[in-house]
Amino acid sequence: MRSARESLHLTQAELARRVGISRAAVAELEAGRIQQPRAAVFARLSAVLGIPAAILLAATGVGEAGAASLAGIESDELVVMAAAQQPTANWIGNTLRLMLIDDQFSLTLQGGRSSASQALNEVLWKDTPTQNFIGRYAVQDCELGGRRIRQGDLLVLGLAAANADPQVHPGSFADSGINRAHMSFGHGEHGCPFPAPELAEVIARTAVEVLLDRIPDVQLAVAPDDLQWRPSLWMRGLFALPVRFTPVTRLSR
Ligand code: HEM
Repeated sequence: MRSARESLHLTQAELARRVGISRAAVAELEAGRIQQPRAAVFARLSAVLGIPAAILLAATGVGEAGAASLAGIESDELVVMAAAQQPTANWIGNTLRLMLIDDQFSLTLQGGRSSASQALNEVLWKDTPTQNFIGRYAVQDCELGGRRIRQGDLLVLGLAAANADPQVHPGSFADSGINRAHMSFGHGEHGCPFPAPELAEVIARTAVEVLLDRIPDVQLAVAPDDLQWRPSLWMRGLFALPVRFTPVTRLSR
């Protein structure tokens, strides 16, 4: 671990800052003195240092059984980060962006003609966080959209493109608010598993409703064209959504 850190020209303090732990914890890890480290710390260390978590675990004195169970937790955490936190956060962000820049969307939502739930569903049609899923293999020969696909072919699932298909895309806002036949949650065996879509919807709806309720005068603090998208082939989300609003005063009890 020390040589990986040194090859990146990081001091213990710099590494600690990036991982979100204390410098003393880095020193303890490097000395192999930590016996029960948290899985999340290893996941972040592994990402910053660019070395597989299993090697880190072995190097820091965690026994094989401990390493196996930590590695298991870690991969679960990674699934939650990639498959749950990112799409849900970006679903909320993309909805708020549309609310701040698209007058029709905002009027319908803030004027109460559409519920937050319908607005969120519309975003899954026209600005879904889940754009492409890369790396799926056909299990048998088949034909799709007039194209021959052979068993073992590598496929890229264009979920956003499928949503834009004029044959399935709902014509009007009213329809896109209630029609849930989009592909944003994937489909079939590897689609977003029940009850995750419902859970994500509760989280996203609560975020939008509470925001509209608490800070109704929220405005974009930069020009819409200055908003920056994260460079990603698979996920659509902003780096940041700077806004301006009037702070509410806390009610005294
Ligand atoms: C609480 C929030 C969420 C949780 C816990 C969650 C969980 C998961 C899990 C565990 C999988 C992997 C299923 C498998 O490989 O068998 C998955 C897949 C997927 N999720 Fe979610 N998810 C959440 C939110 C979302 C949101 C908001 C979207 C999109 C708007 C989304 C879209 C997808 C898609 C498209 C897949 C399929 C990926 C593939 O084909 O491998 N998920 N989700």
